[in-house]
Amino acid sequence: MGKLDGRIALVTGGSSGMGAADAKLLAAEGARVIVADLADDAGQALADSIGGLYRHLDVSDETQWKAVVADVDTTVGHIDILINNAGIVAFTPVATTELEEWNRVIGINLTGVFLGIRSVAESMKAAGGGVIVNVSSTAGIMGYSNLSAYVASKWGVRGLTKAAALDLGKDNIRVVSVHPGGIRTPMTAGMEGSAMYAGQPIPRIGEPEEVAKLILYLVADATYSTGTEFIADGGATVGQVLNV
Ligand SMILES: NC(=O)c1ccc[n+]([C@@H]2O[C@H](COP(=O)([O-])OP(=O)(O)OC[C@H]3O[C@@H](n4cnc5c(N)ncnc54)[C@H](O)[C@@H]3O)[C@@H](O)[C@H]2O)c1
Repeated sequence: MGKLDGRIALVTGGSSGMGAADAKLLAAEGARVIVADLADDAGQALADSIGGLYRHLDVSDETQWKAVVADVDTTVGHIDILINNAGIVAFTPVATTELEEWNRVIGINLTGVFLGIRSVAESMKAAGGGVIVNVSSTAGIMGYSNLSAYVASKWGVRGLTKAAALDLGKDNIRVVSVHPGGIRTPMTAGMEGSAMYAGQPIPRIGEPEEVAKLILYLVADATYSTGTEFIADGGATVGQVLNV
């Protein structure tokens, strides 16, 4: 018996990194997982390996969301669990960030989460409820230099999570945000040994599976939690060490 037997979960950005770890763990706990991504070959291979389905989905595209959710609804069933995980990063200082770059980051990281919530809300409500996990970042808890669009998008995800939890609570839909610190994925390639981890209470990079386990807990067990933040960052955001 798995914790998620009979449930249907859609994971955006599920072809790689944390999304792939989420997809594997949710499937191992019995969920039928739809891997949704732009990276078709990797996503299809992963879906095949976990007995799930792959669907091409650009999370910033309203039309694609409508088509994918309608298709999943008719071919598999209604989505019980949505993991809004897809995201991109752009290292640009605020003073020289092009509007096009800003809009691209906000479009995927923030508008993509909004479109995801909106696309599943009605069918979750009709089915009696559901759970939505929005993957933010420690960049949604504090600021970072050279990451203005990313930080703005991730704070936006944190705020949107609270507003959505308030709107959807009456429909038995929980909405929570997850805030990973540095995690070993293609997004952080080359940063595994970064000095920034040395000052953390847990002085190492995190693994995607460590975040997936938190997400499984939120989906399956955290039945009295909604609208709030769950941080998995090795303690990076707890404070500063004072050498006095
Ligand atoms: N890796 C970290 O240290 C870290 C830390 C905090 C938060 N995050 C967040 O975690 C999430 C997953 O990141 P990751 O590190 O696993 O990155 P990753 O680059 O390994 O995976 C991201 C996935 O999202 C997909 N994607 C990109 N744009 C998309 C779009 N428009 N539509 C659908 N899919 C798209 C990519 O193809 C890729 O498969 C992101 O939201 C990221 O911002 C990452």
